[in-house]
Amino acid sequence: MAKTSKAKEMEGDVYYPSEQVIAQARLKDWDALAEKAGKDLEGFWSDEASELEWFKKWDKVLDDSNKPFYKWFVGAKTNIVHNAVDRHLNTHRKNQLALIWESEDGKQERTFSYFAMNREVSRMANIIKAMGVQKGERVTIYMGRVPEIVFAMLACAKIGAIHSVVFGGFSVDSLQGRIDDSESKLVITCDGSYQNGKIVELKNIVDEAVKRCPSVENIIVVKRTGQPVNMEAGRDHWYHDMCALPIANGKCATEVMDAEDPLFILYTSGSTGKPKAILHTHGGYMVGTYSTLKYVFDINDKDRWWCTADPGWITGHSYIVYGPMVAGATSMLFEGGPTFPYPNRWWQVVERYGITVFYTAPTAIRGLMRFGEAWPNKHDLSSLRLLGSVGEPINPEAWKWYFRVIGKDKCPIMDTWWQTETGAFMIAPTPVVPLKPGSGTRPFFGQEAEIVDEQGNPVPDDTEGYLTLKNPWPAMLRTIYGDDARYVNQYWTKYPGRYTTGDSAKRDKDGYYWIIGRVDDVIKVSGHRLGTAEVESALVSHPAVAEAAAIGLPHEVKGQAIHTFVLLRSGFSPSPELAEELRQHVSTHMGPIARPEDVKFLDKLPKTRSGKIMRRVLKARAQGLPEGDISTLED
Ligand code: WTA
Repeated sequence: MAKTSKAKEMEGDVYYPSEQVIAQARLKDWDALAEKAGKDLEGFWSDEASELEWFKKWDKVLDDSNKPFYKWFVGAKTNIVHNAVDRHLNTHRKNQLALIWESEDGKQERTFSYFAMNREVSRMANIIKAMGVQKGERVTIYMGRVPEIVFAMLACAKIGAIHSVVFGGFSVDSLQGRIDDSESKLVITCDGSYQNGKIVELKNIVDEAVKRCPSVENIIVVKRTGQPVNMEAGRDHWYHDMCALPIANGKCATEVMDAEDPLFILYTSGSTGKPKAILHTHGGYMVGTYSTLKYVFDINDKDRWWCTADPGWITGHSYIVYGPMVAGATSMLFEGGPTFPYPNRWWQVVERYGITVFYTAPTAIRGLMRFGEAWPNKHDLSSLRLLGSVGEPINPEAWKWYFRVIGKDKCPIMDTWWQTETGAFMIAPTPVVPLKPGSGTRPFFGQEAEIVDEQGNPVPDDTEGYLTLKNPWPAMLRTIYGDDARYVNQYWTKYPGRYTTGDSAKRDKDGYYWIIGRVDDVIKVSGHRLGTAEVESALVSHPAVAEAAAIGLPHEVKGQAIHTFVLLRSGFSPSPELAEELRQHVSTHMGPIARPEDVKFLDKLPKTRSGKIMRRVLKARAQGLPEGDISTLED
């Protein structure tokens, strides 16, 4: 891109925004707003919140009297659905598209205006209510990428129920644990979903899972694939049958919620133990997703925005469903993946719908690079104006390919660093910010990041350390559902007064942040967040396994891949067949995304004297690196 005269000289490989990008940008002066927000955090967020509608405005923007249990927009009344759907009905957006959906095979297309969205969401909300679900109760949603997953999420929010979406790529054990922990009364699912032309039998998985979930009273089943499924009378209900009932009309009042009322929980992997339910609220999360999408991707109601994530992860929650709809944009939901049946599938979708902003994960870019430029080059991608990246560090090689081949050297890439816990972007540029491939640039307005050493002292520039955040922000998690103590311990104890991210990072002399990776036992496999503990417990549930350890190792396309080490019970001996059986076992219990790359049989796992497995040592050994401090290693 052409360097503009005003931009200051920076170190390294820098991509300056073009005059055209600057001319189009809503926000021209990043520094001025950053400075303003830095001086008056509450004023900044108050201005952002004022762009949305509230049934009652707040008495106080931020209440930090009981840290780290921060409260935002205290005293305000709203409902995120009022801003994501209802308010658009009184504007020119009423007949604009809220959602475009295309099936994996490309043979079906469904579109919903904001008007239609309101009808669909209201209908589903009435059905959920008829199932006896009340405000504050949990509903588990376990579906494929179909429009009904969006309706289901919004329908829960509309009536004040708390949704807990479980990614449709997880399997029985993961689903069971999440339904049980949340004590959901209702599960919403599909008969099946499509994955690369094959059917994933979602309803069968639900049937298996709920055998051990006493809280579940009803299951709503959306028909997608049409294969026969078991329907238990009294418990299981076809969605299309319910839609024919008089209660299922398109009129349902939106519940008035307190800004701090829970909107959803989303289970994510932590450093140890079982996944934790991250809790987000109506008010702060609404303002955070809206404001970040507005500034970082400069989104407006003319945009056709496509975030390729699955709604079952935070990226899908914030940037397929809530953010784009609160902003009044058109959001694309595509059922399939990038390479089925051919590696041009995504570019076909971009061309077909005139996508303007495209947001995906580095793993997808790396995967697509392998198939060469000819595939994207078959398509007219000229509608694109901005690109985005999320989920893991993007290597400069992939960044440059993405920039040149997909963006045709004219679309800035917004590399957004954030987490399930942060709810919205935390480190990210805006279109006018000069970019460095591999860096998410600087913290979002109102945020300050600091990289510290083990003791919490700031480290010098260009030095690796722990990434911490200094200020509270509206879309922050409020707690771990049902476990306040874990919330405090996990995020606020190591460095009191600041949020611990679990990532390591460096800052360069220009103040740009470079994420290195997780410092805990979280593994990012193809951008999906998984915990070693879950993989290990799946392994030890196999009769042959006495003990197991899982680690993440670098992988060319996936970013990280899962490698496992197993100690067999007596009576079992190592064999390639058993290794394969164990990989399959993990896949069946947790889901195909957790299938280990390999299983190695060991006679002994490296442990501390207190019996904790030293994954760090396994990792070093596997990569032929020095083992570091092993003074705590037993004998
Ligand atoms: C990683 C996904 C580098 C990071 C939104 C973080 C990233 C974890 C980036 C959270 C990025 C996310 N650059 N690393 N742009 N975005 N990460 O909860 O390690 O699934 O802590 O949220 O993903 O993963 P989660």
